[in-house]
Amino acid sequence: MFSKGLKGIIAAETMISQVDGENGELLYRGYEIKDLVKGKSFEEIAYLLWYGELPSSEQLDELKNTLIKNRYLPEHMIKILTTLPAEMDLMSVIRTCISAEGLQEYGWKPTVEQAIRLTSIIPIIISYRTRIVRGQEIITPSLELGHVANYLYMLEGKLPNAAHCEALEMYMILTLEHGMNASTFSARVTASTESEMISGITSAIGTMKGPLHGGAPAGVLAFLEEIDESEDSTIECIRKKIIKGERLMGFGHRVYKTLDPRAAALKAKLMELVGEDRWLDLAIEVEELSIKALEELKPGRSLYTNVEFYAAAIMKAIHFDPALFTPTFTASRVVGWSAHVLEQAEDNTIYRPESTYIGPKY
Ligand code: CMC
Repeated sequence: MFSKGLKGIIAAETMISQVDGENGELLYRGYEIKDLVKGKSFEEIAYLLWYGELPSSEQLDELKNTLIKNRYLPEHMIKILTTLPAEMDLMSVIRTCISAEGLQEYGWKPTVEQAIRLTSIIPIIISYRTRIVRGQEIITPSLELGHVANYLYMLEGKLPNAAHCEALEMYMILTLEHGMNASTFSARVTASTESEMISGITSAIGTMKGPLHGGAPAGVLAFLEEIDESEDSTIECIRKKIIKGERLMGFGHRVYKTLDPRAAALKAKLMELVGEDRWLDLAIEVEELSIKALEELKPGRSLYTNVEFYAAAIMKAIHFDPALFTPTFTASRVVGWSAHVLEQAEDNTIYRPESTYIGPKY
């Protein structure tokens, strides 16, 4: 059977997460995401995804300590960060650095320790590179702060604003894992050849980079700015884009045929975080009118807001540079990718689908 883009094909059985597209529900290891974002840390949920259960306080401390112990980059990686041309985009830089992490010992089978190491270094790669390109001193990681607070600290060079940190932590928890999305599939395909964890994660980063997957939040911001600057009314601007055949960034999803639950949670957080705000008002207006216009011009396709729409809005509210959007998504999704690589290795069969030849025969 041929299904373009593998639509509707089940490629794996997983215990890691359940994406219920009809009811707009997301479960990590059986827990509803809306319950997990209440008062839990990035580290707790990462533990849940890797080990299959929520940690005891000793287990959580141990994970936090291991993440902290891994907060360093090898010398050769720092050299790479300073040598790559300044115009090289951050996702390509992360992909290159993670690949270079493979100089160290990463064999088959993958381990949780490797997953923790990669999770620990991605925020360092992002913040070192960002500061190097800006001509700023790099900030040595804190050995005290939590994973998300340390990330903001290394970027900003000062202790982060508590509300910004809370918003970013929520965003990162909501994007840790999401079933068989394109990048996770890439990671599992690579792992299925018994290639090491590094290669699986490098494949996933390359897949994440594309604008139809992890690259969408920057597109959302551009979309909002275009509407803001346009002489047309918001609804006219949206309708023109759809009629021209453009995709509205932050709308539509392969699995969700209703509102993405992550978008709903981020929207609520955003309203709490910023209150009255011109950009938030614009985002809410654009959401409402886009859904209306999509219903009218693309009937029956069930196109609603996805996580990227409010991810972009929340990043704007915490003054995050758009260049950091997809890299930050990567810094959280590495947990899901590595959990899938571990699961793939547990009961492995190489992914090897077939294709139908439709070319000429001579
Ligand atoms: N704006 C306008 N039309 C759309 C959109 C959109 N955002 N998304 C889908 N459509 C239309 C599409 O043109 C097609 O229409 P037609 O039947 O006339 O050809 C129909 O809906 C079905 O589209 P599709 O491409 O077959 O749907 P898909 O399941 O392959 O695509 C998607 C899913 C997310 C790639 C797509 O909805 C899209 O490109 N959205 C915009 C980019 C975006 O926001 N990406 C972030 C996704 S969420 C993060 C993640 O999980 O990766």
